Amino acid sequence: MKTIETTYDSNNYSIIVGNQVLQEINNVTSKRNIWYIDQKVYEFHNTYIDQFIKSNDELILLEVNEELKSLNQYSKHIERLLMLGIDRDTTLIAVGGGVVSDFVGFLAGTALRGIRYINVATTILAHDSSVGGKVALNSISGKNLIGLFKRPSLVIFDAYFIQSLSHEERLNGYAEIIKMMMLTGRFNEVITKLERFKSKSLESLMEDVNFAIQLKRDIVSIDEKENNLRAVLNLGHTLGHAIEYQYKVKHGYGVAIGVLFDLWLSVNNLKENSSNRVAQQLEDILSQLMMIFNKEDYPLEEVIRSIEMDKDHSIQSIVEYMKHDKKNKDNKIACITISMDKLTSLQNHILNSPIEIQPTIEDIIMDVQVYTTAEMNQNINEFIHYMKEVLLHDK
Ligand SMILES: NC(=O)c1ccc[n+]([C@@H]2O[C@H](COP(=O)([O-])OP(=O)(O)OC[C@H]3O[C@@H](n4cnc5c(N)ncnc54)[C@H](O)[C@@H]3O)[C@@H](O)[C@H]2O)c1
Repeated sequence: MKTIETTYDSNNYSIIVGNQVLQEINNVTSKRNIWYIDQKVYEFHNTYIDQFIKSNDELILLEVNEELKSLNQYSKHIERLLMLGIDRDTTLIAVGGGVVSDFVGFLAGTALRGIRYINVATTILAHDSSVGGKVALNSISGKNLIGLFKRPSLVIFDAYFIQSLSHEERLNGYAEIIKMMMLTGRFNEVITKLERFKSKSLESLMEDVNFAIQLKRDIVSIDEKENNLRAVLNLGHTLGHAIEYQYKVKHGYGVAIGVLFDLWLSVNNLKENSSNRVAQQLEDILSQLMMIFNKEDYPLEEVIRSIEMDKDHSIQSIVEYMKHDKKNKDNKIACITISMDKLTSLQNHILNSPIEIQPTIEDIIMDVQVYTTAEMNQNINEFIHYMKEVLLHDK
């Protein structure tokens, strides 16, 4: 078992990562707790979970999909919660993936102007959503637009739950871990790890979860409200969100393609800035990554096929969606790419050095770069062409 402590100035919380570690919850729960549990998780793991539910506690099973994060569901559940006669000492316990933690965190942030909540993460993606204190509901104007910052009192990432998670959901969540490795330039490490993904043991999956949680903890401890540094966590998300929305693919699948796109933009920027040697090294890595992502069941070819069916119109709609990205500045579309200022460290340190166990925040080589609508149109067009070439060449 590993305990990772947050490092804010005050109000810190522990993140416990391990196998069969749910008993750690007993150190933090209140006299009365309301458990909100993903009903699928409860079906798989009720015997395990029931051991920790006390006689005073309430158990609420949730049908989990994005619709749960709606104002309708919120209104129903907040009234039900208040009718349970809660007080400021009641703790809410969210057991599930990102949908449950976003929803329960929002309930906790608004009930009685804020009560405590605990995240028990049960998906790979929840390494991200359970840490950092952002909680949100969806609006008809877009995803996660109704939100607040509400730190949990404890996070438990228990590998025991991951055993029942499908391959599809593992891949979905792993895309965010790949993103974390990329932030610190660990491209070669991503290649090796992805090559072994299908046969990955739970133990090595948890090593990667540990790494991603620590880096996320470091980033949000410095920039909780996303004034600057936290923006790099959006690597892959500008195009990723548009693909997710347009082609109804899982979030992580959109992010996987978006990460490749941001890397491709970085290669182009490097070429323009006459860093051809590094650009070439990175381009080799990029094409290898593309082939491995495709082999490991990320739906690259499917998305390319869908875009190609009506290419000009598809690219236009994608760019239109990207124009609403929260990072955008001065009517330009923001993407996260390799920072030219960090080029020396990329060159000397990361591309050439052996894998390090614990990269630090100083290793982050990404920054925000903006593009006009016309540039973005052309970039996506060329990127689709590039992906096709690489993937066809691999056949
Ligand atoms: N707040 C944040 O910082 C943040 C960050 C990233 C994502 N998110 C949000 O997280 C959500 C996505 O999270 P997610 O991918 O965990 O989705 P999810 O919670 O919908 O879970 C995915 C699926 O896996 C099932 N499941 C969960 N745990 C399982 C288990 N142990 N065994 C078997 N099945 C299991 C669920 O029932 C669901 O069908 C999105 O709404 C996104 O906006 C929030």
